[in-house]
Amino acid sequence: MADSQAEVPLTTQAGMGTDSQHTQVGDSGASLRHLPSNPNHWYAVRPAADLKGEPQAIELWDQALVIYRDQAGVAHALEDVCPHRLVKLSHGRVEGGHLVCTYHGWQFDAQGACVAIPYLQPEQRIPACRVRSYPVREQDGFIWVFPGDPALADQVTPLPIPEWHGLKYLGSWALIDTATHFSYLIENLMDMHHGYLHSHYQPWGEARLETVNRDTNQVIARYQAQCFFTVDQIWSMAQLFLPALRQPHPETLTVRYAYPHWIASLGEDFKLYCLLVPAGRHRTRAYFLHFTSLHRFPKLHTLPVWFRRWIKGLFSGTARNLLEGLVREDMVMIEEEQRMHDTQPQRRGREVNPTLTHVQNLIRTQAGR
Ligand code: FES
Ligand SMILES: [Fe+2]
Repeated sequence: MADSQAEVPLTTQAGMGTDSQHTQVGDSGASLRHLPSNPNHWYAVRPAADLKGEPQAIELWDQALVIYRDQAGVAHALEDVCPHRLVKLSHGRVEGGHLVCTYHGWQFDAQGACVAIPYLQPEQRIPACRVRSYPVREQDGFIWVFPGDPALADQVTPLPIPEWHGLKYLGSWALIDTATHFSYLIENLMDMHHGYLHSHYQPWGEARLETVNRDTNQVIARYQAQCFFTVDQIWSMAQLFLPALRQPHPETLTVRYAYPHWIASLGEDFKLYCLLVPAGRHRTRAYFLHFTSLHRFPKLHTLPVWFRRWIKGLFSGTARNLLEGLVREDMVMIEEEQRMHDTQPQRRGREVNPTLTHVQNLIRTQAGR
C-alpha cells in the first residue's frame, strides 16, 4: 500500500494452524486490557476540516488536551486546564491568536504561557504559569498530535495517507467511538476471519490466512479471500447500493498493524486505514478511511485537474454508509468482549489465529512490558 507498504525488515514469520499456535485470548489479559498506548507516536485527533473557529477538547490516553487554530489558521494543542482555577480551556475561545479562558479571560499563547490577564492591576505581574503544549502537525486531512516526549516528535512522522488528496482515489470515512480498550479494536481489524459477521454487507468472505510477519513496529497478515466488489467499470460504485451487481472473486487481503494505526489493501482496488486514538482504558476513537482506486481508468487521469477534483468531491463519501454499517456491527462485538472482561476478567477465550498473538505482543512491546 503505497508508502505504508515500504518494506521493513521482518524478523519473524509464522505459519498457521498448529496446536502450538492456539492461544488464549486474554493471556495475561488482565494486564493487556489495561496497557497504555505508546505516547511517542503521532495520533490523528480530528479531521482538519472540522477544526475551525472554536477550540475543541480531545482525550489521548486520559490526557485532556485542547486544540485550536490561531489567526493564521495554524493548529495548536495545549493541556486542557486553566492554571487559574483549573477549569477546561476548551470552553474558551480564540482572540488575537491567543486561547482565552472563558471564566476570567486569562490568555495563553501557543507555547502555553499566560500572556495576559485582563483585570491585572498596574503593580501586579502575570504569575509564572504555563500549561503544557504539544507538537501538532496538519497532514493528509487530519490534525495530528504527539502526546509523548516532544524531543522525540521529529524522529517519527504521522502516517502518510497519500490517497487523501490523490486524484486517483475516491475517499470515504467513518468515525469509530467505542467504550473499549484499543486492543479489542485492533484485534478485530487484524482478524479477517470476522468477515462472517459482515455477511450482509459482503465486503469480503472466506478469508484464509497465508502469512503473518512481525517486527518491533508492525504486524502484517496476508489472507486470501473472496471479494464482492470490483472497480472495473466507471459505474462500479453502484455495487455499493446494488448487491446484485457484486460477484465474488479471489483477492489478496493484506492488513498491517503499523503501530498505532492500521492499514489494509483489498486487491488493487481498495485501500483502508484506521487511525486509532486511544482515549483511555475504556474508550477508543478512530477514523476509518476507505479509498477506491481509479487506476483502471487511465483516460480519466488525462482530463483537466479541475474536473478530476470535481469528480473526487462528487463521489467522496459514497462508501460512508457501508463503513458505518460495518463499524456498527464490529462495535457490538468488541464492546461485548470488553464488558465480559470487566465482569469476568479471569475468563479467557480460545484463539486459533496466530496474528492476534503477534498483535498482543506488539502492544506489550510498545507499552514497554
Ligand atoms: S479559571 Fe481560567 S481565567 Fe480563571
Ligand atoms: Fe469488521
